[in-house]
Amino acid sequence: MTGRNQTAVTEFLLQGLPIQSEQKSLFYALFLVMYVTTVLGNLLIIFLIRLDSQLHTPMYLFLSNLSFSDLCFSSVTMPKLLHNMQSQVPSIPYAGCLTQMYFFLFFGDLESFLLVAMAYDRYVAICFPLHYTTIMSPRLCLSLVALSWGLTTLHAMLHTLLMARLCFCADNVIPHFFCDMSALLKLSCSDTRVNDLVIFTIGGLIVVIPFLLIILSYARIVSSIFKVPSARGMRKAFSTCGSHLAVVSLFFGAIIALYLCPSADNSTVKEMVMAMMYTVVTPMLNPFIYSLRNRDMKGALGRVFCRKITPFSV
Ligand SMILES: *[C@@H]1O[C@H](CO)[C@@H](O)[C@H](O)[C@H]1NC(C)=O
Repeated sequence: MTGRNQTAVTEFLLQGLPIQSEQKSLFYALFLVMYVTTVLGNLLIIFLIRLDSQLHTPMYLFLSNLSFSDLCFSSVTMPKLLHNMQSQVPSIPYAGCLTQMYFFLFFGDLESFLLVAMAYDRYVAICFPLHYTTIMSPRLCLSLVALSWGLTTLHAMLHTLLMARLCFCADNVIPHFFCDMSALLKLSCSDTRVNDLVIFTIGGLIVVIPFLLIILSYARIVSSIFKVPSARGMRKAFSTCGSHLAVVSLFFGAIIALYLCPSADNSTVKEMVMAMMYTVVTPMLNPFIYSLRNRDMKGALGRVFCRKITPFSV
């Protein structure tokens, strides 16, 4: 396998979750069910929005993009985790590890940018209802999505290229269930100061700026609701924004708890639980948060499945 010192590491071992062997099959089944739920729930949302022309509005197109991003985000880590829980040697090749890191960053960022686009969409819908259709034109929606893809590509590429510069020598055991950037940095035997600096500055900005923009949008929404208080307007605003806020707090709550409140010792377990939160739990819950509470989605479900149409005929 790997040699000592000078020979470069060609593969890593993912230590995985700290689960006792007698509980392994229980957790395996749990994660499998969660992953299948994530895939099916998000696919259902994507197909519903594609098939039902009443849902071809900016909010639902962003939601469909978010579902796609959720689906991919959890597919970056979950299949490998499930596979490793079954295999004797939970290894991952060096290139596979960097690829996983790239797509993890890519879809994680994409998710937070899409949440910003959705917050902006709600802000326009509630604060400028008369100009909504002119402001949120198909061109603007497409530009926002394209901008998100562009920025996430650049950001994920930057970290991956910086990581590819580093050498890995003797130690190749990653104490995590996927190729986490900070776990990899701790293993490297090169100088990681540039990486740390870039993560701290650019990585920080990529998390903090979307978060602030989202807070700002919802603050404007809340203040505009209280300026002209009407029971009906309030109910409408809270019912559309409530589900968005639930998703935002799930996603950013885990990230902030993880990075801004670091515990002093033995944080690996806490880190992994938090990582589980935003790689598995959030992508699984998003479709339910949106569709279970949402009358439009329920209506679309009825329309699409009761009219016996064949999919892909549209
Ligand atoms: C993402 O959003 C764009 C712009 O609104 C839309 O054209 C596209 O169909 C969406 N993609 C998915 C997968 O829903």
